[in-house]
Amino acid sequence: MHKVIYDTDPGVDDAMALLFLHRHPEIDLLGITTVFGNASVETTTRNALFLKREWNIAAPVSKGAGVTIDHTREDRAWPAMVHGDNGLGNIAVPETVDVPVDPRPAHRFIIDTVRSHPGEVRLVAVGRMTNLALALKEDPEIATLVKDVVIMGGNFYVPGNVSPVAEANIHGDPEAADIVMTAPWKVVVIGLDVTSITTMSRSYLGGMAAKGDGAVKLLDALSQHYIDFYSHSVEDGMMVHDSCACVYVVAPELFSSITGAVRVVCGGIADGQTIVKPDGRRFPPGDWDGLPSQVICTGIESEKVIDLIRDTLLAA
Ligand code: BDR
Ligand code: CA
Repeated sequence: MHKVIYDTDPGVDDAMALLFLHRHPEIDLLGITTVFGNASVETTTRNALFLKREWNIAAPVSKGAGVTIDHTREDRAWPAMVHGDNGLGNIAVPETVDVPVDPRPAHRFIIDTVRSHPGEVRLVAVGRMTNLALALKEDPEIATLVKDVVIMGGNFYVPGNVSPVAEANIHGDPEAADIVMTAPWKVVVIGLDVTSITTMSRSYLGGMAAKGDGAVKLLDALSQHYIDFYSHSVEDGMMVHDSCACVYVVAPELFSSITGAVRVVCGGIADGQTIVKPDGRRFPPGDWDGLPSQVICTGIESEKVIDLIRDTLLAA
């Protein structure tokens, strides 16, 4: 069993990924930690509680960061055109959901849970990296105690999605992402290089909803606004960014990768750009030296990934 903490900003593609983690038989979901990104942290936490209740998920929800790790950074507008004003595609979601939140802040929940299962926890982070960076700051030793960190974020050999060079999760808190990439733990980076070519069509999802239970029907309903948004780049379908990171946890053989030290640009026109120094390439001394070598996914078997998501969601 893979013991997973899911750090997320639900978020439409986050919701699909959550249902995947909940339903995959080899995943033991230990907790859901929330972060700001697709909406405020109040909204993403409410959404996590809503999905927990609707989908009968046992894992606790712990509320995380609502601002960047560098508090002097300016706020940016929420991406309502992508995920809707309420983060879940503008479907009806109650203002408040009567499900208790874990009393600990997300970074503390992460530290405690990692320490209770040394060497076993896989952190799957699909929002801004703020909670992970806060956990590392408070307890640097956790870097040696997690099994690995699988993130959805960044872009290396393809353009960004919030600027020509930056992807949303990294751009939303570049300083936090640089802390996470350079810490002495194993990070697997599932970025736009692989997620932007992994799309599910409206009719494929509709077919799943027709066969599936209420959970899949709810997922279909909350995805419609997001699919409309993607009409500029996907033909009647959507990129399933966050699910790709979750699929990696159980099926890494569907991905190909390179390794190298990763840094994140903090500030200027390239704010939030992720840059790898591939292992084996020689450069004069520089800012990537002496840092851990991380795994950067550059290839994906998209059709198999999409089918695995379908089979997992329909297996209930
Ligand atoms: C990432 O940004 C968010 O909008 C999505 O949920 C995903 O995690 C894609 O760039
Ligand atoms: Ca996300």
